[in-house]
Amino acid sequence: MNSLMKLLASLLLFIFSFLIFGDIDVAAESSSQNHPFSGRNKLFVFGDSYVDIGNTNTTDKGVWDYPYGITYPGKPSGRFSDGHISTDFLAQLLRIKLPVTYAKKDDVDKTRLQYGMSFAYGGTGVFKTYADYPNMTAQIDLFEQLLGTVIYSQSDLSSSVALVSVAGNDYITFIEANRDSPAKIIFGIRPLIEKVVNQTEVNLRRIHNLGVKKIAIPSLTPLQYIPYFSNSSDLLHNVTQYIVKDLVSYHNDLLHKSVAKLNKETSHSAFTIIDYYNAFLTVINNKGEIPGILPFKTPLIECYRNGTLCDDPRSAFFWDGIHLTQEGWKSVYKVLRHNITAALTNYV
Ligand SMILES: *[C@@H]1O[C@H](CO)[C@@H](O)[C@H](O)[C@H]1NC(C)=O
Ligand SMILES: *[C@@H]1O[C@H](CO)[C@@H](O)[C@H](O)[C@H]1NC(C)=O
Ligand SMILES: *[C@@H]1O[C@H](CO)[C@@H](O)[C@H](O)[C@H]1NC(C)=O
Ligand SMILES: *[C@@H]1O[C@H](CO)[C@@H](O)[C@H](O)[C@H]1NC(C)=O
Ligand SMILES: *[C@@H]1O[C@H](CO)[C@@H](O)[C@H](O)[C@H]1NC(C)=O
Ligand SMILES: *[C@@H]1O[C@H](CO)[C@@H](O)[C@H](O)[C@H]1NC(C)=O
Ligand SMILES: *[C@@H]1O[C@H](CO)[C@@H](O)[C@H](O)[C@H]1NC(C)=O
Repeated sequence: MNSLMKLLASLLLFIFSFLIFGDIDVAAESSSQNHPFSGRNKLFVFGDSYVDIGNTNTTDKGVWDYPYGITYPGKPSGRFSDGHISTDFLAQLLRIKLPVTYAKKDDVDKTRLQYGMSFAYGGTGVFKTYADYPNMTAQIDLFEQLLGTVIYSQSDLSSSVALVSVAGNDYITFIEANRDSPAKIIFGIRPLIEKVVNQTEVNLRRIHNLGVKKIAIPSLTPLQYIPYFSNSSDLLHNVTQYIVKDLVSYHNDLLHKSVAKLNKETSHSAFTIIDYYNAFLTVINNKGEIPGILPFKTPLIECYRNGTLCDDPRSAFFWDGIHLTQEGWKSVYKVLRHNITAALTNYV
């Protein structure tokens, strides 16, 4: 668990700051169109560090330390990045103000609660992981406890969107726990993927049954390219070279099937996969041919490595071994914006 602990140390911290969107501009193009989002006004967020905007304990090392947040808001904010992350960009695209974090819900001006809430905690999975924070089931429990109270009524939910991130902590936990026995990893990974996606399906169905009408779930990213896997020199690297790509495609296959099944159960297309897998590849492989998206010169090298910060976080795609920079997320959301707005605004 050593390198994992180091990783965690470099990941996990707090100063909540409400976001006023600064210069993030993914939605610029849709601003001239009609306002299709006027009825959609709350964002609820579940999952892990790819979407956590500040729930982890401020005493956690790493994410609550320099240089996290150096680009935005200029100090650590609990985001696992130098600045804005996916949650910020999705909220902006949907023209919903940033939701508050569950951790800060009692400290904020009550009017802020109308924009929704994030229950996501960095390091978590659908099952127990290395992080001692609520798994996704427990996050949904927290959400359910707030329903029917003055905070959120049924009618509030009918105009809301949920973002549900399962970015791979269940798999990283399993691989790390078995890093000395490749056979266990090789034979255990597929059953685990099936369990994870099955539980994800249960979670998605539950969020919908609680009243959220539109639910977005990202596909698993091409984890074989994250520096955590691709730039590790030991056995982990050797093993993961073989299995990570397959892990990702199996997970995404099953996820597509689950989501198709869920959409059949519901009368409208309640569930949408946000195709991070292809969007990440598009950005990583971009040599300048995509209008409006500058290529990253060395997209596979993280900006913050082993305690050393790169010269310019805006020129890096990966922030650390696992997470994207603000510029990385911005590019991904530029690639995805048309599909996301189409999926989340077509509403029956
Ligand atoms: C944060 O961590 C500190 C020290 O470990 C602990 O005393 C405190 O209860 C934690 N706070 C929360 C909200 O979990
Ligand atoms: C989630 O965590 C709770 C509390 O620790 C536990 O009781 C539950 O079994 C976990 N759920 C899953 C799906 O692992
Ligand atoms: C996952 O769900 C499928 C379909 O419901 C089922 O056939 C399979 O046995 C489940 N797998 C696991 C590991 O739970
Ligand atoms: C990790 O990346 C750095 C920078 O590109 C490189 O110098 C180093 O050799 C790489 N290590 C491994 C094990 O791939
Ligand atoms: C990983 O693979 C390389 C090249 O195939 C090999 O030289 C090295 O010994 C392997 N490392 C471990 C820890 O198995
Ligand atoms: C990471 O930093 C530590 C302490 O500064 C150093 O001892 C180690 O060699 C560095 N590792 C790499 C791969 O650069
Ligand atoms: C957008 O959706 C279309 C139609 O499903 C698909 O062909 C295309 O690859 C998607 N683009 C991205 C960037 O996900």
